[in-house]
Formats: sequence, structure tokens, C-alpha cells
Amino acid sequence: MSLLFHGGDLQSASAIYGRDPSEWIDLSTGINQYSYPIPAIEQRAWHQLPYLDPKLSAAAASYYGDHGCLASSGSQSIIQLLPSILRKLGSAGPAWLPDVGYQEHAHAWSKCGNTNTYSGLDSALATQQINTALEDKRIGHLLIINPNNPTGERFTPQKLRSWAQKLQASNGFLVVDEAFIDTTPNASLLTEPLAKNVVVLRSVGKFFGLAGIRLGFTFAAHSVLAHLAKEIGPWAVNGPAQTVAIAALNDTLWQSNMRTTLANESLQQRNIWQAAMTALGAYQAGSHELFRSFSMAPKLAQKLHQSAAKHGILIRLVAINSNTSLLRFGNIDPSQNINNASALDYCHTWIQQESE
Ligand SMILES: Cc1ncc(COP(=O)(O)O)c(C=O)c1O
Repeated sequence: MSLLFHGGDLQSASAIYGRDPSEWIDLSTGINQYSYPIPAIEQRAWHQLPYLDPKLSAAAASYYGDHGCLASSGSQSIIQLLPSILRKLGSAGPAWLPDVGYQEHAHAWSKCGNTNTYSGLDSALATQQINTALEDKRIGHLLIINPNNPTGERFTPQKLRSWAQKLQASNGFLVVDEAFIDTTPNASLLTEPLAKNVVVLRSVGKFFGLAGIRLGFTFAAHSVLAHLAKEIGPWAVNGPAQTVAIAALNDTLWQSNMRTTLANESLQQRNIWQAAMTALGAYQAGSHELFRSFSMAPKLAQKLHQSAAKHGILIRLVAINSNTSLLRFGNIDPSQNINNASALDYCHTWIQQESE
């Protein structure tokens, strides 16, 4: 069982705030509010043991590119396994991770040897820190979340490839978590063949809005994938998930329309919060088409988080240090209605009240 608190936990929020789980405006995740439409699922997908369908491998190759690949029940399952496997295959030196980012990485690596951090908020500072540490041969393995959740921090593929090359000399791996890269696919490392010491994680949960089917893909050298495959065992991806993913990964029209929709709505989604946040003394710390995070004093973040929850709006509070917390707002589904008001109007009214 994971010990970390995550977004989208409506059962726990309902228990705390006394509200039915169906009555939330859930902005606490970065999962696309426009889920890929579920196709008809044949009886055999439910009935048979889910051996990997070659159509899923073909769909993954056409969407992600032709690389060595392993499908798993979410990228989370691989995040938990990678540290011990990469330590076996590579360097025993410290793993470097962002100080702010999806915490399951730090949780997994900290169980398995030394870790160190670079800035998860400031990519220029992070670049300096990583460059210096690489020069001094202080990095065993390097973990990058690109783009970072919740900070939106990004690195170019060129920079990442140059770091991978430097890590090669000391048997180090570069792990790049690209769970949120589908809105900007050209920024992915998968646009070119991968070096032997690079591992790329992709998630079907975020852009496709399909977190419930639990599907992720890992791209890496054969030796890494073989160790992972042994650990996850047979039938890691259930039959219905395979059917849905084959349709989603092959549907290039839906994908390109969705990229346009999310890009077009991004400004509108930000503007709901921006003026009020500025008035309250907070500032935008990072953004992505699927979320935006504002930085503020912890007390203010806690107050807003609680007040929103009392109004049935669930947002994500990320504590950074004693001076700073982030509030991350996922996208509002404009078609959702609460008490005869659209979710958009409802959120607008709440944040206006807070900033007055
Ligand atoms: C950056 C990042 N990576 C990976 C994951 C895991 O996603 P999944 O297991 O659904 O593929 C998450 C989930 O929130 C995430 O935010």
C-alpha cells in the first residue's frame, strides 16, 4: 500500500468533509477531463486470460515509436521496481531527483540507497546543479520528470541526451518520466532511438483521461525490460484495458483534436484563477495544459484548500517547505453542473469571494 497522499482521492475527501463522492468538482489531479470514449468491449476480453495482444504492441509502436517496450499496470508499478533493478545493472552511486515532483519516485529510490536532489521548480538552477554534479561524478542515476508534475519544469531532449551520454561513463541510468508529455509529443525522448542507459516511462492515464484502466509503457534496453518483465509477472495489463488502449493509441484524429482543444482552453483555465491568486499574493509557479500550480505561503494554501473543499471543490495542496506551498488546479470540465451552476461559474464565484 502506498503511504503517500495523492490527488483524486474522493473517498478520503468525502470522509473528511462529509460529502458524497459524486458531489465534488475534482480539480485535484492532472487527468484530462475529456476521457477517450470507451469502445465496445468483447466478452472474450473479460473472459480470457489477458496475454498481450499483438494489436496493442502495434498500436504502442505507432503512437510512441519503434522502441523496446513493456506494458504494465500503470507507470506507477514500474516506478516502484526501477530503483532496485537499475542499481543491480548500473551504478551504486546516489540517485538524483527533483526536490518537488511526483513523490513516488523519491519514495521508491529512498528505499534503495542514497538520494540527492536538484531544484524541481527552477529548470535553470536544476541544469546548473546537474551539470556540476555530473562533472564531479557525483550522480549515480538521474531521474527527470518531464514535464514535472506539479511544477511544469521542462528540459529539452537535447539536454537530456547529453546528460545520458555523461552518465554512461559511470554506468548511470537516466530515467525520464514522461507521464505528462503527450500534449507536446515532439519534446519526448522517444522521437529518436534511445541510448542503452535511458529509461522512458509513459502513462495512458493523463492525456487520454484513462487513469482507471491502469496502463503505462516503459521504453528501455532489453536487459532492463527483461528484469522488469520478470518482476511484474504474467497478465500485467487486463483484457478490457488492452481493448481500450488499442483504440486510443490508434486514434490519431482524436489525439490531434484533443491537443488543439487543450491548448485552446489552457488560457481560459488559467484565467479563472490567475487574477485572484495575484490579488492574494500568490504567483504561478508552473503550468501545463492539464494543470497550473500557484506558489504561496503555507497558511494561505491551507486556508484556500480547506475553503475550496467546504465548497465541494477539491484542489491539490503540495507542501514544499516552511515558507512555500503550491496549490495545483486541474482542468474544470465545462459540462459539469453543480447546484444548477456550471462548474466553471461555481469555481469562479468561489475564488472571487476568497480574493475580495
Ligand atoms: C509524474 C507522474 N508519473 C507517473 C504517475 C503514475 O501514473 P500511472 O501509474 O497512472 O501511469 C503519475 C501519477 O499521478 C505522475 O503524476
